[in-house]
Amino acid sequence: MKVISSIHDLRDQLRGQTRVAFVPTMGNLHEGHLSLMRKARQHGDPVVASIFVNRLQFGPNEDFDRYPRTLQEDIEKLQSENVYVLFAPTETDLYPVPQQYRIHPPADLGDILEGEFRPGFFAGVCTVVMKLFSCVNPRVAVFGKKDYQQLMIVRQLAQQFALPTDIIAAETVRDTDGLALSSRNRFLSPDDRAEAPRLYGLLSGIRDQVLAGEKNFAHLEAEARAALQAAGWLPDYIAIRRRADLRVPGADDIAQAETAESLVVLAAAKLGSTRLIDNLEI
Ligand code: PAF
Repeated sequence: MKVISSIHDLRDQLRGQTRVAFVPTMGNLHEGHLSLMRKARQHGDPVVASIFVNRLQFGPNEDFDRYPRTLQEDIEKLQSENVYVLFAPTETDLYPVPQQYRIHPPADLGDILEGEFRPGFFAGVCTVVMKLFSCVNPRVAVFGKKDYQQLMIVRQLAQQFALPTDIIAAETVRDTDGLALSSRNRFLSPDDRAEAPRLYGLLSGIRDQVLAGEKNFAHLEAEARAALQAAGWLPDYIAIRRRADLRVPGADDIAQAETAESLVVLAAAKLGSTRLIDNLEI
């Protein structure tokens, strides 16, 4: 595997490649990321990964400085997945001048849910994804469903700018107790790690109740929020939404909820000092 930090060298290395499958990451790779590499392999060749902790998508009070950076371990993991190139630019490689041109997703998709609690997050994501795509020129790019809203926003970015890159979705990888794998899980204390699967448990409970015919979504959301609070969490949101546009379900969506496979339940909550997100398609 070649580890490349300059955009110029990356372009040289990838010249003539027309079927690149790309997996952008922020590093601290776990089994979830590796499953994205395997998915990429099914859709293209060679597989190119990137590791870049993108300052633009972190708020002033978020965890940019303490975000785990484990490049050596990450390189070993990517080597064993037969990744062809790892693009690991420094901040000056990727942002040699202040990045003043930015991509802002539409407010009705970018300022809800994660966007409401992390202002500017999706503009930071869209801007770096556009720039990484411009460097790598991938035929396909793989994004995990764990970041459901990000996946949807990137997909629409690619569509609306007619990018020559198909966006492929990969399923969330979970620990045996249901906790979705995340680089931020390493910040959980042992007690919080034992508590953390409650989030997935509550999402599964909501899914099961919707599938059993429960129509009072506001009640389901409020019950789950109260259960998190009672267990010491600080929930940001627990929301049953339409998969297609993440809007609040209308009467038709609610009427067909058991059969239509049109809904998703999404949640974000803080446990100790760690903010966890998860979601489940219904
Ligand atoms: O999902 C992530 O790790 C990041 O948001 C991404 C897509 C690599 C952009 O920085």
